[in-house]
Amino acid sequence: MDIKLINISKSYLSTDNNYIVSLENINIDIYYGNYISFVGPSGSGKTTLLNIITGNLKPTSGEVYWGKYPLSKTSDKLISRLRREKFGIVFQDVKFINEISVKDNILLPLVINYIPVSSKIKYFETLVESLKISSIINKMPYSLSGGEKKKIAIARALITNPEILVADEPTANLDDTSAREIFHIFSNLNKLGLTIVVATHDERFGLYCKETYLMKKGKIEEFKSR
Ligand SMILES: Nc1ncnc2c1ncn2[C@@H]1O[C@H](COP(=O)(O)OP(=O)(O)OP(=O)(O)O)[C@@H](O)[C@H]1O
Ligand SMILES: [Mg+2]
Repeated sequence: MDIKLINISKSYLSTDNNYIVSLENINIDIYYGNYISFVGPSGSGKTTLLNIITGNLKPTSGEVYWGKYPLSKTSDKLISRLRREKFGIVFQDVKFINEISVKDNILLPLVINYIPVSSKIKYFETLVESLKISSIINKMPYSLSGGEKKKIAIARALITNPEILVADEPTANLDDTSAREIFHIFSNLNKLGLTIVVATHDERFGLYCKETYLMKKGKIEEFKSR
């Protein structure tokens, strides 16, 4: 599925009745199999943009296309179903359920999607091995380090075999070694055909991804392709 953003703007009404413009006239094509990053300072609109791409947030104006579907004319029910089927999302604050194990957190999207866990156990094992997290899957989420949490969030996003991985700050607060591991994991996944969209402060992503959009104050300042 290709994703197209046409003239997207998003503004919020602040408590003192002023408009806060988060995004202004964004036009982007995300082709199937691409690997793109949005890089920019805090407050430049990266998370807002990812939320609009994943249909979690409606733009103030403009249109988002998921393949042939214009989201403004698509029912919320269909948007939710397509989001669950097509996207794997790594949130900026990873959001685990603290009462269940790491393994159960990774498997939870299957339950939500009515996919039998037994049909994915082999894939789960492959995923755990390739992310090098086998020693921590029986732990509880609160006992994980920052880097471990990111990897678990990536495993959870991938367990349903999504077409598109959307990751918000996947290397934030990670040391060089852990960050490099994430870069390599993403590059390998993209080589296997996964579309990847990342929002990050980490300019090193530019060395690995195919297209970079530099963002400033809700606008795209520069586009780099390699
Ligand atoms: N729900 C909201 N209500 C009001 N303003 C908001 C809301 N969400 C975001 N904003 C504003 O929109 C702008 C962009 O925020 P956003 O979270 O998209 O930035 P970001 O680039 O992801 O920043 P960071 O790097 O810190 O995660 C900011 O000025 C923020 O204060
Ligand atoms: Mg953000």
